[in-house]
Amino acid sequence: LEIQEGRVVRVGAEGEPYPSQPGSDGQAYDAEGLLATPGFVDAHTHPIFKGWRSGEFVRRSRGDSYQQIAASGGGISSSIVGVRESSTETLAGLIRTRLDRFLELGATSIEAKSGYGLTVEDELKSLRALQLAAAGHPLEVSPTLLGAHVVPPEFRSDPDSYLDLVCNEMIPRSADERLAHAVDVFLEDGAFSLKQAKRIFQAGKRCGLGLRIHADQFHSGGGARLAAEYSALSADHMDYTDEAGLEVLAKAGVVMTLLPGAVFFLGREHYASARRMIELGGRLALSTDFNPGSSPTQSMPLMMTLAGIKMNLTPAESLWAATMGGACALSRKQDLGTLHPGYQADFCLWEAGELDLIPYRCGDLVPEAVFKRGRLVARRGVRLQCNNG
Ligand code: NIG
Ligand code: FE
Repeated sequence: LEIQEGRVVRVGAEGEPYPSQPGSDGQAYDAEGLLATPGFVDAHTHPIFKGWRSGEFVRRSRGDSYQQIAASGGGISSSIVGVRESSTETLAGLIRTRLDRFLELGATSIEAKSGYGLTVEDELKSLRALQLAAAGHPLEVSPTLLGAHVVPPEFRSDPDSYLDLVCNEMIPRSADERLAHAVDVFLEDGAFSLKQAKRIFQAGKRCGLGLRIHADQFHSGGGARLAAEYSALSADHMDYTDEAGLEVLAKAGVVMTLLPGAVFFLGREHYASARRMIELGGRLALSTDFNPGSSPTQSMPLMMTLAGIKMNLTPAESLWAATMGGACALSRKQDLGTLHPGYQADFCLWEAGELDLIPYRCGDLVPEAVFKRGRLVARRGVRLQCNNG
């Protein structure tokens, strides 16, 4: 793999010795015996929160459902308190640790959402904290405003006024201050309706932002058609999407982001119909949905395991979804997600004789080395702070 200025310029044939005379400033890294894959592009994460919610895990293990926990004051709303009382710097410090972890586990680019502030100032603060944490960090971060995650408690009797705030203030300000590339909405019973989601899309589109949607996670709710109609960048979860919905998404070329970590961790059995999506010619991404409630893992290799066991994807299919599929969801299919000449030299080296080992090891295999734009940034699960290699 020959790299110049952070991009792949040539891929040699298997077994071909590397040039004995690299360029004058050339450096070589001997990856003999290791497997190279593109770095993961995790296209759906929620890393801007304060504390973990392990108490909910314990409650679920006693039989309570995600919805019951949310109705009794847990869930998304319970993460609001921590974000609201934290400073930008405190949040940035927490986010930075999480960015390190993504990199250590092999992700070289991620999408990251706000969504636990749920006031104009706390959502903007969340996005500023993300920007601060990502500045100078090797992991590339594509920010999304998720002001429409749930209706915050103080607006429960008047959700449409909250929506006005999201559409008239949060979205325009995040766009003006260049804090977000996209806007997202959670369409679900207990979150936002189809009509409300449409308003979010209209406002996002007006401000020139990309559109994403959390839809059909627990019920089928019409989000597929909306995402297709507005040419959304991605339609995420889609566990309960009906045949007609899958067809319109595939036809419109909207990326369907599979999030099996959330189905698994909530103890549910209804996974997205990934095989059907492929049959219909749909484009799939595979992501962690990293968040403190429904998926507290940052491991893309573990997502490949779940994709194989629960959705019958082959290792090659799940790797594609976890790399190029993510790049498509981020609108970066021209420079991320594969190692062809011209693409960014973002890649992982694995102690694995074959690709199957990555999902087979059930989240345990971490990359031997992670490279971002041709620079070594993590080794054996440890972020390297300072290097020029
Ligand atoms: O993608 N579905 C909505 N949002 C997250 C869960 C967030 C939380 O529980 O804190 C998800 O699963
Ligand atoms: Fe999510």
